[in-house]
Amino acid sequence: MSRIDELLARMTLPEKLGQLTMTASSYAVTGPVIAGDSTESIANGTLGNLLNMVGPGPTHEMQRLAVEQSRLGIPLLIGLDVIHGHRTLFPIPLAEAAAFDPQLWEATAREAALEAAADGLAMTFAPMVDISRDPRWGRTAEGAGEDPWLGSQIARAKVRGFQGDDLAAPTQLAACVKHFCAYGPVNAGREYAPVDISERALHEVHLPPFEAAIDAGVATLMPAFTDLAGIPMTAHGPLLRDYLRGRLGFDGVIVSDYNAIGELIKHGVAADLADAAALALNAGVDIDMMADAYRKGLPLALARGAVTMAQIDTAVRRVLKLKERLGLLDDPYRRGATAEKPAAIEKRRALSREVARRSIVLLKNEADALPLPATMRHLCLLGELASSKPDMRGPWAAAGDIDGHVTVLEGLSAALPQARITHVDGGDIAAALAACDEADAIVLCLGEAANMSGEAASRASPELPASQQRLVDAVVEQARARATPAPVIALLFSGRPLIVPKLAEQVDALVAAWFLGSEAGNALADVLTGKVSPSGRTPMTWPRALGQVPLFFGMRPSGRPADPQDYYTSKYLDVPNEPLYPFGHGLTYGRFRYDNLRVSPARVSRGQRIEVEVDLTNEGRAAAEETVFAFTRDPVASITRPLLELRGFARQLLQPGETCRVKLSIAAEDVVFPGADLQPVFEPGELQVLVGPSADRALLLGASVQLVQP
Ligand code: BGC
Repeated sequence: MSRIDELLARMTLPEKLGQLTMTASSYAVTGPVIAGDSTESIANGTLGNLLNMVGPGPTHEMQRLAVEQSRLGIPLLIGLDVIHGHRTLFPIPLAEAAAFDPQLWEATAREAALEAAADGLAMTFAPMVDISRDPRWGRTAEGAGEDPWLGSQIARAKVRGFQGDDLAAPTQLAACVKHFCAYGPVNAGREYAPVDISERALHEVHLPPFEAAIDAGVATLMPAFTDLAGIPMTAHGPLLRDYLRGRLGFDGVIVSDYNAIGELIKHGVAADLADAAALALNAGVDIDMMADAYRKGLPLALARGAVTMAQIDTAVRRVLKLKERLGLLDDPYRRGATAEKPAAIEKRRALSREVARRSIVLLKNEADALPLPATMRHLCLLGELASSKPDMRGPWAAAGDIDGHVTVLEGLSAALPQARITHVDGGDIAAALAACDEADAIVLCLGEAANMSGEAASRASPELPASQQRLVDAVVEQARARATPAPVIALLFSGRPLIVPKLAEQVDALVAAWFLGSEAGNALADVLTGKVSPSGRTPMTWPRALGQVPLFFGMRPSGRPADPQDYYTSKYLDVPNEPLYPFGHGLTYGRFRYDNLRVSPARVSRGQRIEVEVDLTNEGRAAAEETVFAFTRDPVASITRPLLELRGFARQLLQPGETCRVKLSIAAEDVVFPGADLQPVFEPGELQVLVGPSADRALLLGASVQLVQP
């Protein structure tokens, strides 16, 4: 008999339900606080999992209650939302996606895992892989943007980073891929609203990143709060039980979202908690986070015959198995046993700066407004965000403290020791104008405070706050009126693309600063002063008007594509179809030319790869790193295919005047798509390969291969 079967055979129903329950907790000055419960439950074995308890002291104290006092001594599983770093914060996921660097994506997850595990944690509720094509949705900040292929690459890298090769290692965490699935297309971008999308969109767009995470061995998964075409995801038997467990073979732990089982009552599919608990368990949810529906409701559901003891045992077995895989059954104190060395923490800060630099996207740079010249004497820095430490953290700050983060003011002051930097918050426009009157350059810190993005932070108008726009208007007018106009540079903080066509027109340079984490100010200073060339590329399209949303490069064709000469074509009367900035857009301090695209072999079958080569020349004056994208377009297929599909990317650093041949490789398997019956098909015929700096069709070089059956 295995250790787990032995344990299971000895467990009472309350002990089993304890293993299926996860409760929020914290450590106050007065001692541990267990939400709606007490440490008693841990000691008597009726509470088996905690979220939010952090630190070696508190986690080990809780663990001791479970291990030394409960009858069976089963250790706790303790998790936290370690989303973009733990104490050292990295750029938010949307920002980090802009780096287009799988090694960095993995490295930040590994470092976050090391730091969190040293704090006694064994689980993170990450990665979030929901595709977002709607900037109104605040949780756009937590994911990789609009593209399923990119999302899948990131999902893999994150699972590898958090979990490593051996989940039992004291330095690794169980990852939790979330929120399964199709949370991004909430109705009108409103948080927690229902979702109603096609089966095709589900399979082509929203499921692939989850499939990638499962393929990479993710240990746990969280269903979304939302209702998908009438079935709340927490009770979605067809997707959780049949698709995820049945078809994909996922045998890890499914943990509900916070109180999501209880919310099945408000969704209108459960009459009471017992009903809700039965729906969730029947769908395949193992752990109830914060609804207490399993402990309170499953005994009644058992009595009603709505669930069986065998189902409960299956869920308990999965939870125990996870605890075993995490090494908790062998040594529950392995995480949090050894304090990290200062050198490891310093190295992590250096990584944070490196990733932050690479996440910055230079959206516009007219007349070389950037980089700032080394001779700069007086810089005026405007806006509250320039000196706000908490806002550098972004919306999921895990255990990151409030103060340990570098502001723009601090970063620029360190980078430009010879310059006078005047900083005013901009609330008083007259004072702001006086401060920048004689400055050599004006840097405006604009956009969102950290709490304007993230969970529950949907915005019907994701634009610049009106007071900021008034400041920009006044500053730009004054700067232009000067005998020698001063360049106006805007750093735009946000957890989503903002709708800023006017700002983009007004300023000389526009930088997407997202939320960059602990080293934000230093990383921005590195880019602004030209210490490094910007290299980030936006992982999401920036619309020019909210009415264009959802706007994304992977749209399907229309039978009447936009034609300015033809009235009855697919366009608006009041705005162009084109975005303000396309997916993949991002300038560098170099200038790149693409020539001589070659794709081979001429005929490609399903198991093969398409090799892509292109000459890249830096015609600019500075060394810079270019990101080269490879898309495909299937012009004739049984199901209409998107106008562009991302298949690969490569980064290349080039000195001024240097040319090199960049090579990319596309897996023919990636062009398989769900056919009419949603089963995968590989259709012979022409496949166009399009290569260039972004999803702007006008900038792409193209060539074709023939897809053939082997
Ligand atoms: C969020 C999850 C998160 C959980 C636990 C919920 O409100 O939707 O993403 O993991 O809280 O903090």
